[in-house]
Amino acid sequence: MDAHDMGADLEKVLITQQQLNERLTQMAGEIDRDYAGRDILMVGVLKGAVMVMADLARLVHTPLQMDWMAVSSYGKSTKSSGVVRILKDLDTDVAGRDVLIVEDIIDSGLTLAWLQSNLLERGAASVRIATALRKPDALKVDVTVDYVGFDIPNEFVIGYGLDYAEKYRNLPFVGTLAPHVYSN
Ligand code: IMP
Ligand code: MG
Repeated sequence: MDAHDMGADLEKVLITQQQLNERLTQMAGEIDRDYAGRDILMVGVLKGAVMVMADLARLVHTPLQMDWMAVSSYGKSTKSSGVVRILKDLDTDVAGRDVLIVEDIIDSGLTLAWLQSNLLERGAASVRIATALRKPDALKVDVTVDYVGFDIPNEFVIGYGLDYAEKYRNLPFVGTLAPHVYSN
């Protein structure tokens, strides 16, 4: 899927595929430096993190395993419910592991704060966080985000894993939707 396929539904491109790739390459370098001599358990948060997880994992040189969690999503709404529910749990025992949570976007940060403490309760040795995108509200929450791709304005974005009503996840860039899409 590309901008052409979006037609009038695309308002604007916020972050291009090339910008994503360049930034993720830098983040992978930071991760390699920080985790030197260790093994990483990358935990992707379904479904949004699929793209960033796939790209980041291929750019990192440190040995790593990949696992996935699914937590309650926004459904069709564009506002955070603040309710976190495990829909799919990890297959891996995180006890003693150096966990790197990989997220598509941090908005309210509620999902992440809950996830980090949940994994620490299970005995993870460390839990760090990498996210492709971060919105301003995330700064209000008491969670350290170790690797941030891009800080973006407080707008609803789609693409690069992010959806609106399950659509547009397969756009290779991050963009915003034209207002008429929401009123449909
Ligand atoms: P938080 O708990 O408010 O930080 O929400 C995190 C989750 O909300 C993300 O993993 C996304 O699934 C979803 N989300 C937040 N903002 C957006 C957006 O702009 N576009 C699409 N999904 C979003
Ligand atoms: Mg998500």
